[in-house]
Amino acid sequence: KKVVLAYSGGLDTSIILRWLQETYQCEVVTFTADLGQGEELEPARAKAQQMGIKEIYIEDLREEFVRDYVFPMFRANTVYEGEYLLGTSIARPLIAKRLVEIANETGADAISHGATGKGNDQVRFELGAYALKPGIQVIAPWREWDLLSREKLMTYAKNNDIPVDFAKQGTKSPYSMDANLLHISYEGGILENPWTEAEEEMWRWSVSPEQAPEQPTYIELTYEKGDIVAIDGERLKPHEVLSKLNKLGGENGIGRLDLVENRYVGMKSRGCYETPGGTIMLKAHRAIESITLDREVAHLKDELMPKYAEIIYNGYWWSPERQMMQQMIDESQKVVNGVVRLKLYKGNVIVAGRQSPDSLFDESIATFEDDAGAYDQKDAAGFIKLNALRLRIAANKGRGQL
Ligand code: ARG
Ligand code: SIN
Repeated sequence: KKVVLAYSGGLDTSIILRWLQETYQCEVVTFTADLGQGEELEPARAKAQQMGIKEIYIEDLREEFVRDYVFPMFRANTVYEGEYLLGTSIARPLIAKRLVEIANETGADAISHGATGKGNDQVRFELGAYALKPGIQVIAPWREWDLLSREKLMTYAKNNDIPVDFAKQGTKSPYSMDANLLHISYEGGILENPWTEAEEEMWRWSVSPEQAPEQPTYIELTYEKGDIVAIDGERLKPHEVLSKLNKLGGENGIGRLDLVENRYVGMKSRGCYETPGGTIMLKAHRAIESITLDREVAHLKDELMPKYAEIIYNGYWWSPERQMMQQMIDESQKVVNGVVRLKLYKGNVIVAGRQSPDSLFDESIATFEDDAGAYDQKDAAGFIKLNALRLRIAANKGRGQL
């Protein structure tokens, strides 16, 4: 038996690694990805080697992650439950895909991950894996073992020669975190009480709006087909765009979020998120769409968006319904070209201007000044009267509200 493990190199997945070897007598292949979480990956290789792993995959997936997952999602202005920008949700399908591909390459019959049995991530990894390789076996140690406390985990680590960096344990964040180029998330610890405010020291990517500079930062974002291709005229790859916007947003106190969300498994959970670049992208994308999209196209997109967000949140990236919606979303973006000018200031993203060769905004029609016959105001009388027809008929029948 051979298992491909999504391995971070941290204590928990190291324990999982050993537990898989012990419990299933299997050969383990480790897979560690750089999604922009800002951590060294080489220590994961050293640790895996130390535990006798022969097939070690360490990959920089930042470019693919932002180009093929984050950017397509942002074309829809995707937000879950009105607030969450899906930073963790959108990374899981890529990890699921690589786990399956590596299983195929190495002849493994199973995959394994470190998500608990209470969360969304298990669902996302496994729905993805089954969609891409129906016969794959999944091992989710958190649903099987009895190492359910921190103390039991530490004892297991000690008894099984798993390197525990005790110096690091002391400074270890008290939160369950997940980071990639789109966001960093915090759950657990004092956050488990939704009334308790997050401590200032928790936040890692952004200054507080209070500490942000007194001077605003202006930036110009260039769009092609709904994607940002340049910042202040400098052409950048998608993942370079996102990391630059993270920096600019973080410096200006942008993108902090504290919310209680509904997990797919049924419980409510409190989480804090930092999504500086994503928060800027959402605002800017709506601004460029505001001048380039037809009204009905824009409204239809907005109606479908919550469904699309739910599909991604619940782990159905690799589903026919997501693909169908993606084609529709992408089709709408052909005309979403132009430049958005933004002012970043103390936690706010303020649109300062937008322009496009594909703009539908017609100044000669919209003007409050003389429009030289571009729009005949007399037409509006009939437009309103016919729209009022059914209201008048009903009122005549005594169904009026007065
Ligand atoms: N609640 C968020 C989501 O479901 C974040 C999950 C964070 N995952 C983690 N393994 N720490 O997308
Ligand atoms: C986990 O339970 O492993 C993290 C949280 C989640 O998946 O929702």
